[in-house]
Amino acid sequence: MRQIILHGGVGSSNELSGLLNKYASYAINYQDPIDAVVAAVKYMEDDLNFNAGTGSVMRLDGSIQMDAAVMIDGNFGAVINIEFVKNPVQVAREVMEGSPHVILCADGATKFAREKGHPMYDPTTDKARKRLEEAKAEAKKDPRFLYKEAMSVDTVGAVANFNGKIAAALSTGGSSPMMRGRVGDTPIPGSGILVKNGFGIAATGIGEEIIRRQLSYDLYCNRDTLEKEWESIAGNSKYSLGAVGFYGEKSFVLANKSMAHGYARKDD
Ligand code: GLY
Repeated sequence: MRQIILHGGVGSSNELSGLLNKYASYAINYQDPIDAVVAAVKYMEDDLNFNAGTGSVMRLDGSIQMDAAVMIDGNFGAVINIEFVKNPVQVAREVMEGSPHVILCADGATKFAREKGHPMYDPTTDKARKRLEEAKAEAKKDPRFLYKEAMSVDTVGAVANFNGKIAAALSTGGSSPMMRGRVGDTPIPGSGILVKNGFGIAATGIGEEIIRRQLSYDLYCNRDTLEKEWESIAGNSKYSLGAVGFYGEKSFVLANKSMAHGYARKDD
């Protein structure tokens, strides 16, 4: 049996779930779960509804720096603060499969992408410019400007379980508003993403909160009482958090706010 589950970021409208079901129905046709999750995340990176790839939010200085990660049991690849590429998740996969490293950041990640054939691509949109202006207005009002969660609709993610083989992928423009150079949970294994021992998860929410909680690892450790652990996390969290994934063949969707998500299954 092949299954895939996607999310469009905590805070994204549930009305987008139909679209994500469609993307899931395309991605399920791949034979390997890593192909499926990378394809699913690419659909969302190319869709302006989501904060990843084209559609990414801007940093406070007007730049766009993106994070992405892929994971299978025993391997990992990520890019941090990559710029001027269309599909960061594809570069993260190439880091995992085509470099001696697991994480590349900033200009090194962008240079690696060029070497792998990713052309120069500017993901800036009018929507991102408008959001930056709104973020700046908020930041002026509140000196603790990093935590204006209302501004933040973030990471897109996918987890697939194909006959017991699990893969996960995440991509984000970050949690706006944020400084240039800031890194969230997406490229941190055990925080935004984890695939381990028949458990796979792709999280979403304010990266700082997810990293402090090691959210994905915490949910993995409590996988036998997942709903109970989630209730406790959601009840104690000041910020929006969410996740999708699989524990064995059982899919889960966890969110303390609206979160578009999609699912597809094929019985082989
Ligand atoms: N969850 C995405 C970020 O905080 O960067």
